[in-house]
Amino acid sequence: MLSRTDNQLVDPYGRRIEYVRLSVTDRCNYRCFYCLPKGFKDFEEPAHWLTFAEIERVMSAFAELGVARIRLTGGEPLVRKNLPQLVKGLASLPGVDDLSLSTNASLLARDAHDLKDAGISRINVSLDTLNADRFRDITGGGELVAVLDGLRTARDAELNPIKINMVAMKGVNDDEFDDMLEFCMENEFTLRFIETMPMGVPGQSARDSYLELDGVLETLHDKYELIPSCMPGGGPARYYKVAGSDTRIGLITPISRHFCETCNRVRMTVDGTLYLCLGQEHSYPLRPLLRSGISNEGLKDAIIEALALKPERHEFREKPDQVIRCMSLTGG
Ligand code: 5AD
Ligand code: SF4
Repeated sequence: MLSRTDNQLVDPYGRRIEYVRLSVTDRCNYRCFYCLPKGFKDFEEPAHWLTFAEIERVMSAFAELGVARIRLTGGEPLVRKNLPQLVKGLASLPGVDDLSLSTNASLLARDAHDLKDAGISRINVSLDTLNADRFRDITGGGELVAVLDGLRTARDAELNPIKINMVAMKGVNDDEFDDMLEFCMENEFTLRFIETMPMGVPGQSARDSYLELDGVLETLHDKYELIPSCMPGGGPARYYKVAGSDTRIGLITPISRHFCETCNRVRMTVDGTLYLCLGQEHSYPLRPLLRSGISNEGLKDAIIEALALKPERHEFREKPDQVIRCMSLTGG
């Protein structure tokens, strides 16, 4: 009999899974063109959304199997009603010691303090531009001021550190890397550049805007002294510190230098499907088990069984035209 106290989540390639990205909704108040195509209607129906009690049950099973870190994602997680209540429940699960959130920040002015009180420690904020018109274009009508307001409230609420995620896109925002870095330095945010991944509908994705981040780094090197660095909980990003400041820059390069060999995560969607890899369709449905009264031991066995399906790596480079689900389903 296996002891349930150690991390038992090892995949077929020997990778230990210690981190779950939990999507609490596939909906979003924005329509970033590379994430949620215009006119997309195929949202999960509410009857299929896991309830907070069901989510807590699954996360408790993960925690008993050794997962200590959970990140709430979407779509936009703050459009799910009463999110702080879910956070409170997750924070009280034995074994869970790191709860974080990825958000577009547009609703953070409303929720930042409640989320902090409930147990969120740190946040990642998607922000690709500081130009209000461009922001509207990229997000399908979003108002930049709401995001800036949300960021201010998050800072007041001490949701630290705050990391800004900027998807680097040729011809879209490649003239703004310096400005975004200055903005992050002024506000004590960490800036992470992300290479665009070919997900969702061809023709309505950022497939054609791909930029290799090594080039971005070189351009920044001309103006700033960047010292290789690291960051706790930084995941697959490679970090640099801007000399003379506390600001860090992270590069997330799924395409030019993939980091699949150190992958430590799985994702769960709002309907209780486990996705074993961001760039592949391998999945395992937990909702039918939950709703047929499975025992807690049975649930843990199912999670272990699902892990056996984890593929070695994504194939964004080899098969860039392969249609993978929209990013909004799993939130990155
Ligand atoms: N390629 C790269 N990053 C993406 N994100 C959303 N869609 C894509 C894509 N196609 C980013 C979001 C968010 C993070 C979780 O993933 O901007 O910051
Ligand atoms: Fe929404 Fe984030 Fe996707 Fe933009 S990237 S549509 S903010 S989930």
